[in-house]
Amino acid sequence: MTDQAVDIQLENVTKRYTGTRQAAVEDFSMSIAAGEIVVFVGPSGCGKTTTMKMINRLIEPSSGRITIGGADALSLDPDELRRGIGYAIQQAGLFPHLTVGQNIGMVPGLLGWPKPKTATRVEEMLELVGLDAGEYRDRFPRQLSGGQQQRVGVARALAADPPVLLMDEPFGAVDPITRGNLQDELLSLQSELHKTIVFVTHDFDEAVKLGDRIAVLGPQSSILQFDTPEAILAAPANDTVAGFVGAGASLKQLTLLRVRDIEMDEAETATIDERPEDVRARLTAKNRKYALVLDNRRRPKRWVHIRDLSDRPLGTVGRPVNDLVTKQSTLQDALEAILTEGGFVPVVGTRGEYLGAVGIDTVMDTIRKLREEHDHG
Ligand SMILES: Nc1ncnc2c1ncn2[C@@H]1O[C@H](COP(=O)(O)OP(=O)(O)OP(=O)(O)O)[C@@H](O)[C@H]1O
Ligand SMILES: [Mg+2]
Repeated sequence: MTDQAVDIQLENVTKRYTGTRQAAVEDFSMSIAAGEIVVFVGPSGCGKTTTMKMINRLIEPSSGRITIGGADALSLDPDELRRGIGYAIQQAGLFPHLTVGQNIGMVPGLLGWPKPKTATRVEEMLELVGLDAGEYRDRFPRQLSGGQQQRVGVARALAADPPVLLMDEPFGAVDPITRGNLQDELLSLQSELHKTIVFVTHDFDEAVKLGDRIAVLGPQSSILQFDTPEAILAAPANDTVAGFVGAGASLKQLTLLRVRDIEMDEAETATIDERPEDVRARLTAKNRKYALVLDNRRRPKRWVHIRDLSDRPLGTVGRPVNDLVTKQSTLQDALEAILTEGGFVPVVGTRGEYLGAVGIDTVMDTIRKLREEHDHG
């Protein structure tokens, strides 16, 4: 296997555990493209872990065919196969009696890398996941927080630069904020590394955020729907999938839309050295209550209400702008900012200059349209 991303093919894969009546995984076929993140979601016991572990042969299929980058996984030596596949699991799965450095360096060591090369790699990996090597390399896992352990787990999975990563609820055991950060980090790593990633989660929101495609699985790993997050949110294949997507489907679609996708609103603007009475006259004439005060480089600074406008300079009245969005921001981000800002959030360009605004009504209209498409489409 090379460092280049590889595709994964599963063909008619079945797993029947000895002594069980039903197959845990029944006739599973899926084609995963090189460099793609595929997320498996589905209820507990549906076969997600079993399906994933057959890819690196921690579990041997009862029948079927698996190829990785065209190579028949079932005819490779299992240990050799696993060294080419990063594997990260819930609770990080670190060896408690080994230091952080030894955990991360284990697979490179098994691959026979020279010690100095492994040591350098350990440092690089710690840095990559945001941990200071000097501080953490010689600690034991129990001396780390849950989130730090997960980071080390990801570092270890990536250490030998495998083209394939399998991640089984890797962020399941951490608090929501740390989890969000780890997800962001994984996405930014992936934008550089382009691994082929299979990711298992219970959490549909996590699937939407991370997946290029999501496989919603039912009993015995039956594929209920396998498509992009957009397509699944817009049109769940059946009631079971709809149940998984949840009641907030149209709200979740806000994470898929960006400010550039909608028509922006216009705030009434004023410049910071304008005379308050001129601004007041303009607002009155246009029947508007608020002006957005821009500095001399057209950067939004303050919101002023018409009743704030007397003889005091614009830079000293009203309230400061606390939150801004860009055209790349998601509508979810915009909605949150609107809730902080109070009705409207300014949209700025790369130099912080005012481009427009997004108001609560526009977001509500968008949600309404998404819901109609969802109901009738
Ligand atoms: N070693 C085993 N022997 C027998 N049955 C097993 C074994 N491991 C798993 N199973 C069964 O296979 C089915 C699928 O289990 P699996 O662990 O793949 O589910 P999962 O989707 O990962 O669930 P969870 O979300 O709870 O992790 C379950 O019914 C489980 O009880
Ligand atoms: Mg599982």
